[in-house]
Amino acid sequence: MPAARPGAVLVSEKEIAARVAELGRTIARDYASADLVLVGVLQGAIPFVADLMRAMALDLTIDFLRTSSYGSGTTSSGAVQLVTDLSVDIADRHVLIVDDIVDTGHTLAALIRTLAARGPRSVRTCVLLDKTGRRETPATVDYVGFTIPNVFVVGYGLDYNGLYRNLPYVATLDGI
Ligand code: IMP
Ligand code: MG
Repeated sequence: MPAARPGAVLVSEKEIAARVAELGRTIARDYASADLVLVGVLQGAIPFVADLMRAMALDLTIDFLRTSSYGSGTTSSGAVQLVTDLSVDIADRHVLIVDDIVDTGHTLAALIRTLAARGPRSVRTCVLLDKTGRRETPATVDYVGFTIPNVFVVGYGLDYNGLYRNLPYVATLDGI
């Protein structure tokens, strides 16, 4: 089996920067003077959270959690577990979950459910990429960077077997 490698660029560094700046302005407007906690989903959301928070002229708190889902190689399953929890209390605060991509929707749906049970003022979601055609569970996505077709992608946080998260752009994967 040939090793899978990043192939064609799907979303360039420049396109990401422009869209993140727009999203940051929109979100900052929507949450003006709100007590906002940005919740990044490790590890894929690291570059997105880092760029997005700097595009938001707003006082905010960031925190992270980690999920695991039992599924094979390139797809997640319905069983999503919280393996590392937040360190801040979100009761009475506005929560914005930030992830790299929404695919089947299982991860976001489970996170919305889990965090909503802690008494926040609101829970919304923001993803860089949305594979709309793959949804298995309805998950409300409030802010989307780019809608992409059903192809496996890497870069800007997204990995294949733990690799390629550090690419500054999003690329398709060749040889998969
Ligand atoms: P979902 O639970 O199926 O919506 O998938 C969410 C998670 O699956 C994401 O946070 C990613 O970690 C992973 N994922 C889904 N599609 C891709 C992809 O194309 N490349 C890399 N990871 C992906
Ligand atoms: Mg992820």
